[in-house]
Amino acid sequence: MVSKRNFLKQFWKDKQMVGAISPSTRFLGEKMLENIDFDNVRSIVELGPGTGVFTDLIIERLRPDARLYVFELNEAFHQSLEKRIKDERVSVIHDSAEFISKYTGEDPVDVIVSSLPLMVFPDDLRKRVIQESFNILKRKGKYVQFQYSLQSKKLLEATFTNVNVRFTLKNFPPAFVYTCIK
Ligand SMILES: C[S@@+](CC[C@H](N)C(=O)[O-])C[C@H]1O[C@@H](n2cnc3c(N)ncnc32)[C@H](O)[C@@H]1O
Repeated sequence: MVSKRNFLKQFWKDKQMVGAISPSTRFLGEKMLENIDFDNVRSIVELGPGTGVFTDLIIERLRPDARLYVFELNEAFHQSLEKRIKDERVSVIHDSAEFISKYTGEDPVDVIVSSLPLMVFPDDLRKRVIQESFNILKRKGKYVQFQYSLQSKKLLEATFTNVNVRFTLKNFPPAFVYTCIK
């Protein structure tokens, strides 16, 4: 398991990729997932799991016949998750969030949960990830994203049919949770 200290170490190694100095709180995870109807989710994608705070919460809620695809680009985080998560429903993928469809196949996915640090991404990468996410979602599918600012709100609103933003102080730093509907 990657500890808080190691999380910080990964941040110093690559600030732009990791985008935070410590893992999110369980409270933020619960807020991210509270509007997802897991009884009707058969395929779900998580982007940027880090140490897996949200991954564990997703697995707790996952139907027995559902699939979870987890994309983590950082090698240390990816290795740690791959070692720790022994669940047939989960694929832990060491690749960038731009390439979801390479792994999920033809069928559209129901939900995407993203912790990617969009704010520090180069503009073209941010656009590619959002467009790939939009394309891979089924009609009315949900894209749930947390951010520390409102910087990506315009892009999300320009891409999705509906965008709802909530704010929580129960995380460090406090965070905005975007729930976007295709
Ligand atoms: C702000 S951290 C969030 C970690 C964790 N979900 C949490 O909330 O504690 C962002 C995560 O996104 C990962 N990441 C950054 N760019 C990525 C990309 N292009 N594809 C997949 N993961 C990426 C980082 O390695 C890091 O684990």
